[in-house]
Amino acid sequence: MIIGNVKIEGFAALAPMAGVADLSFRVICKEFGAAYTVGEMVSAKGVSMNDKKSQELMKLDENEHPSAIQIFGNKPEIMAEAARYALSFSPDIIDINMGCPAPKIIKNKSGSFLMKDPVLAGKITKAVSDAVDIPVSVKFRTGWDDSSKNCVEFAKTVEANGASFITVHGRTKEQMYAPPVDIASIKAVKEAVSVPVIGNGDIFTPEGAKNMYERTGVDLVMIGRGALGRPWLFSQINDYMNTGSYNPEPSPEERMEIMLRHADAICQLRGVHNGMCEIRKHALWYTKGLRGSAKLRSEFSVVKTYEELKALAEKVTEIKE
Ligand SMILES: Cc1cc2nc3c(=O)[nH]c(=O)nc-3n(C[C@H](O)[C@H](O)[C@H](O)COP(=O)(O)O)c2cc1C
Repeated sequence: MIIGNVKIEGFAALAPMAGVADLSFRVICKEFGAAYTVGEMVSAKGVSMNDKKSQELMKLDENEHPSAIQIFGNKPEIMAEAARYALSFSPDIIDINMGCPAPKIIKNKSGSFLMKDPVLAGKITKAVSDAVDIPVSVKFRTGWDDSSKNCVEFAKTVEANGASFITVHGRTKEQMYAPPVDIASIKAVKEAVSVPVIGNGDIFTPEGAKNMYERTGVDLVMIGRGALGRPWLFSQINDYMNTGSYNPEPSPEERMEIMLRHADAICQLRGVHNGMCEIRKHALWYTKGLRGSAKLRSEFSVVKTYEELKALAEKVTEIKE
């Protein structure tokens, strides 16, 4: 996929995931072949108020390009200002969040609330596109609820206002993260616009990625939850799309080695205390399904030091029954 000067190589992008897909995780996904990464959503209002946390969230690693900084908000000028500020972190793309269903975002008339107001969504897209000289994309859902699915019209609106590509998560705001993704709506969006379209939702396997490509015709697929604790999914997808086969899941030893590398990176990013708190949820994902790991879950969820994590990782690899 080529957008302006940005070349996206590979078959699957990493979805933005607030509180999960921070720089440390994104770099690991990139190492495993993620075609493109998107940072955690950043409040445009926070940026305008010089909020330190918002600035932290914008940081990108030099090894993760091509990558996007994602912003959310509902005021065109403030969004444009945040996008201009984001340029100092050298993103390849600015992505606008118009899909988040979280109550605190909706309450502020941002995220998927904007699907109810396509005119404002168009103004925001135009203001951001006019403000920066890099591609701008918009990520949204199929609509607010089943009775108001408007993704096709919405896609045309943001395209007409300067979006260089679009990402569609195939669910309405009301559906949150279930039931199964609406493949037909993603296909309808792809057929309605001339800019590239990324299809997102419920891809957990290489076969799932291929299925999304074949059934919708999208230009790229994007993976969120499927990559949690399984960043190697990107290389499996790339292999499957290129050759028709892929390596099996890594051994417990390899999985624990990747988890420890992730822990090391997260501690460097956040400091040991916060880093170890953050790695707990990832540790549960990395060990999910491993033989005998269930009984160690309570220990992983309170781990405080890197050494403790390492000792638990060794226990996982020693389980033989
Ligand atoms: C923990 C979590 C955090 C998320 N944060 C964001 C976010 O910051 N911005 C965004 O556009 N979508 C966010 N999403 C939605 C994902 O990007 C993605 O659209 C959704 O999870 C569906 O893809 P999946 O089925 O592959 O997980 C988040 C999802 C999860 C599970």
